[in-house]
Amino acid sequence: MRAVLVANPKGGAGKTTLSTNLAGYFANEGRKVTLCDLDRQQSALRWMAFRDPALPPVAGYYAGGQVLLSLPQDVDWVVMDAPAGLQGYKLNDYLRQVQKVIIPLVPSVFDMAATEDFLNSIRNDLRGRKNSIGIVAMRVDPRTRAASMLEEFLKHFDIPIVAYLRHTQNYVNAAAAGMTVFDPPRARHRRDVEQWDPLLRWLAK
Ligand SMILES: Nc1ncnc2c1ncn2[C@@H]1O[C@H](COP(=O)(O)OP(=O)(O)OP(=O)(O)O)[C@@H](O)[C@H]1O
Ligand SMILES: [Mg+2]
Repeated sequence: MRAVLVANPKGGAGKTTLSTNLAGYFANEGRKVTLCDLDRQQSALRWMAFRDPALPPVAGYYAGGQVLLSLPQDVDWVVMDAPAGLQGYKLNDYLRQVQKVIIPLVPSVFDMAATEDFLNSIRNDLRGRKNSIGIVAMRVDPRTRAASMLEEFLKHFDIPIVAYLRHTQNYVNAAAAGMTVFDPPRARHRRDVEQWDPLLRWLAK
């Protein structure tokens, strides 16, 4: 079993969008995947409730109330959708249990400011596990000023950007139907699927 935590203390950064799509990717690859919803709002589980049982299955459960998390061991991947504001002992417990941490980050001054302390603390917590943290630039085109601003900001932390995901209603529409950009017909979301490539390769390392 391999586990990945999707976290950013800023609300609305794209944690649930990333988590559900990542779980959908593994499911479509024929992997046994569990989505662990750590958020009291349970958005990821709500997404699952919309999911057509005929689609590749994603199992899920709510674990936000657990003091110490115990992950299922009999699956290929566990994807953990963190709540906004996650910090302290709970964050440390989750970090101990995962191989990778993905931080979705929107390149706005508000989001970057709200994420700064988190990036500093997580970089310290994961000293010596440098390859385990990656940023996903959310809702941005890599050739824009916003993207350059984000790259400049991230130089202070020495954490790589492992993918750029554009702003598109595809994520909004897929979520409303319990789906992901990886569910068939995949061709409909070809551009988005391509953008996930570097992230998926980084995860497999
Ligand atoms: N790439 C994208 N393009 C367009 N809309 C997006 C994209 N990513 C996320 N969104 C939308 O932005 C909103 C916030 O995303 P999401 O719920 O995934 O963030 P979150 O970090 O889980 O929020 P919270 O902190 O409340 O849990 C949602 O309405 C989602 O559909
Ligand atoms: Mg969420």
